[in-house]
Amino acid sequence: MEDLAPRPGDLEPIETASRDELAALQLDRLRWSLAHAYENSPVYRAKFDTAGVHPSELARLEDLAKFPFTVKSDLRDSYPFGMFAAPREKIVRLHASSGTTGKPTVVGYTSRDIDNWADLVARSIRASGGRAGDIVHIAYGYGLFTGGLGAHYGAERLGCTVVPVSGGMTERQVRLIADFEPRIIMVTPSYMLSILDEFRRQGLDPRASSLAVGIFGAEPWTNAMRAEIEQAFDMHAVDIYGLSEVMGPGVANECVESKDGLHIWEDHFYPEIIDPETGRVLPDGEQGELVFTTLTKEGLPMIRYRTRDLTRLLPGTARTMRRMEKITGRSDDMMILRGVNVFPTQIEEQALRVAGLSPHFEIELTREGRLDEMNVRVEAAPGGCDRAAAARELQHHIKSVVGVSARVSVCDPGALPRSEGKAKRVVDKRGR
Ligand code: DLL
Repeated sequence: MEDLAPRPGDLEPIETASRDELAALQLDRLRWSLAHAYENSPVYRAKFDTAGVHPSELARLEDLAKFPFTVKSDLRDSYPFGMFAAPREKIVRLHASSGTTGKPTVVGYTSRDIDNWADLVARSIRASGGRAGDIVHIAYGYGLFTGGLGAHYGAERLGCTVVPVSGGMTERQVRLIADFEPRIIMVTPSYMLSILDEFRRQGLDPRASSLAVGIFGAEPWTNAMRAEIEQAFDMHAVDIYGLSEVMGPGVANECVESKDGLHIWEDHFYPEIIDPETGRVLPDGEQGELVFTTLTKEGLPMIRYRTRDLTRLLPGTARTMRRMEKITGRSDDMMILRGVNVFPTQIEEQALRVAGLSPHFEIELTREGRLDEMNVRVEAAPGGCDRAAAARELQHHIKSVVGVSARVSVCDPGALPRSEGKAKRVVDKRGR
C-alpha cells in the first residue's frame, strides 16, 4: 500500500495549532454558539431558562457542563423546523433521518453551514490520503441521508473528480470502478463487502483495482474488518464519523498515517464524554456516551447533543486535535444477555478470527421461557470450510472473550441479506 502521510504544507494551520490556540478558539466560538442558540431558537431559550442558566455564564470551556443536554426527542417534539436558529428562508438545505419509529428528525443548513461542511469533509478526505485531482467514487446514499451529498460537496471542495453513484445496483458499481478507475471510494463498510462479493462474482481481482483508499463510516466496524478489507483490496481503509444532527459525515476522521482512532475536528465541534446514567462529564480516557456541541453552526446549533455513541476521548497523535476511539456501538444497539452487555461489533471481531468464515453475519435474539438466547449466523467464506468446526471455534471465542453463550451456525456464502447502506445486524424476535 502507498505511503500517504501528508507533506509539509498540506495541512490547514488549525490542524497543527497548539492546544492553547485551539482552546482559545473553542471558547470564543462556544460563547457565540450558546448566545446564538439562546437568542434565535425559542426551544433553546426555554431549555436554558428552565435550567436557570444563561449564555453569559460561560467563562471557561468546562462551564458548558452547566447547560442542559439536547436529545433526539427535542428535535422530534419541534418537528419539523422548531429548533432552527435561522429564518426558514436562510436555510438552503434540509436533510432528515427516517428513524425506526415515528417522525423523522429534520436538520437544516444555512449556506455558511454547507460551506463549513464541505471544508470539513475535504479535510477528512485529505486526512484519509485523498488529494486534488483524485477520482472519488461515492456510494453513500444520496437524498435525505447526509452521506451522499455530504461526501460529494467535500470531494468537490478538495478538487476531486466526483462520481456520484449513490448506493445500490452493485453490478454497476463494480463496472464503474473498473472503467473510471477511482483512487478513492466512500461507502459504508458493509456495502463495501457487497461490492467485494460482486468483484469476485464478475471474476475481477479486487487487489488489481485502482482503489487506494476507502473512507468508511455511517455504522460501527472493527479493526478486524479493516484488516479484512485492506487485505482484499490492497487499499487503505480509514474511518469517517458523523451524524446528521451535528452536521453529517466529517465530524471526525482517522488519519491514514496512524489509523489509531478518529481526530475530532475540534475547531467546529466540542466533544464531551458523559456517564450515560448520571449525565456527569467524565475525564478524557474514560469510556462513556459521546456528546457534541457545535461551535459554528447557524441553521441548527446543537448544544450538548447526546449521540448515544459509546467511545472515549484520547489525546491527539497525527494532529493536535483529540481523538475518539473507534466506536464500539450505540447504547441502542447494546444487547444484554444474562446481565452481560454485548455489541454486534464484538461478534464481528470474533467471527473474523476464525479461518474459513466470512465477515457476513447476523444476530438473532429469541426468548425461551424467561431466558434470552443469541443465535449467530455467519456465512462460510467462498472457499468453504469445515462448518461444524468453524461454528464450534466461534462459539468458543464468543464465550471466552465476550462472555456469553451463543448458538452459532455457519451458512452458505450469499445466504444472508446484503446491505446497500447501513447494515442491520440484529433481528430481535423476543417480542415485548
Ligand atoms: O451516518 C452520517 C455519516 C455518513 C457518517 C457517511 C459517516 C459516513 P446518521 O444517519 O445521522 O448520519 O447516523 C449517525 O451513525 O450516531 C453513529 O451511531 C453511526 N455512525 C456514523 N459514523 C460512524 C462510524 C450518518 N464511523 C449515526 N463508526 C451515529 C461507527 C458510526 N458508527
